[in-house]
Amino acid sequence: MDKMVDEKALNLLFREARSYFKWLPRPVTDQSVRDLYELLKWAPTSANSSPARFAFLRSKEAKERLRPALAPLNVEKTMTAPVTVIIAYDLKFYEQLPKLFPQNPGMAKLFEGNSELVETTAKRNSSLQGAYLIMAARVLGLDCGPMSGFDHAKVDEEFFAAGKPCFGCDQEFFPEGHVKTNFLCNLGYGDPSSLHPRLPRLPFSQACSLL
Ligand SMILES: Cc1cc2nc3c(=O)[nH]c(=O)nc-3n(C[C@H](O)[C@H](O)[C@H](O)COP(=O)(O)O)c2cc1C
Repeated sequence: MDKMVDEKALNLLFREARSYFKWLPRPVTDQSVRDLYELLKWAPTSANSSPARFAFLRSKEAKERLRPALAPLNVEKTMTAPVTVIIAYDLKFYEQLPKLFPQNPGMAKLFEGNSELVETTAKRNSSLQGAYLIMAARVLGLDCGPMSGFDHAKVDEEFFAAGKPCFGCDQEFFPEGHVKTNFLCNLGYGDPSSLHPRLPRLPFSQACSLL
């Protein structure tokens, strides 16, 4: 069976997909946000650990809580976006392994007390899950504007510290202080008239080796 997607899908996902920072006045529904998670959750993580946690900020109130942490150049882009996702990682992700990776009951023990392994695994896999989010959004016809220009400590304190509410998440996953921000991503329907010409990419010969 031919599993290859068609040219249209390749264009939508890669060749014509852009990073957007201006948005059409079209809302992103809560159902779209749910559909997005229901797709991205299937993409792989090490030991199926799924350490990413996603806070979807939709309300003006939630965005205002984020505002002080944003780099000046990212403020307007974020405040005008229909949704801003905080892609974070849970440093206690391994507590879910008995459920997520039941075939190896010893796996959680491997992480307990090994903070370096926990940090590396959580960062690597939440970054992957953030990339899966971008690709899933594109599949669903949404546009993305990823951002690393912000103060991590401020976002962690405001959204993931003790006693603070968390948006769109089961509180059980966000007790105090072990959820850390990885990066942000605005979501919406991008305004094509705002785009600059596409930047070049490295050619195969510079970025790859065939061994
Ligand atoms: C992890 C990550 C962080 C980024 N941080 C910012 C940012 O803080 N501000 C910004 O304006 N663009 C940011 N960008 C956007 C990139 O500059 C953009 O994706 C890249 O130039 C490619 O643009 P294109 O997708 O339109 O080809 C970021 C992109 C990624 C993936």
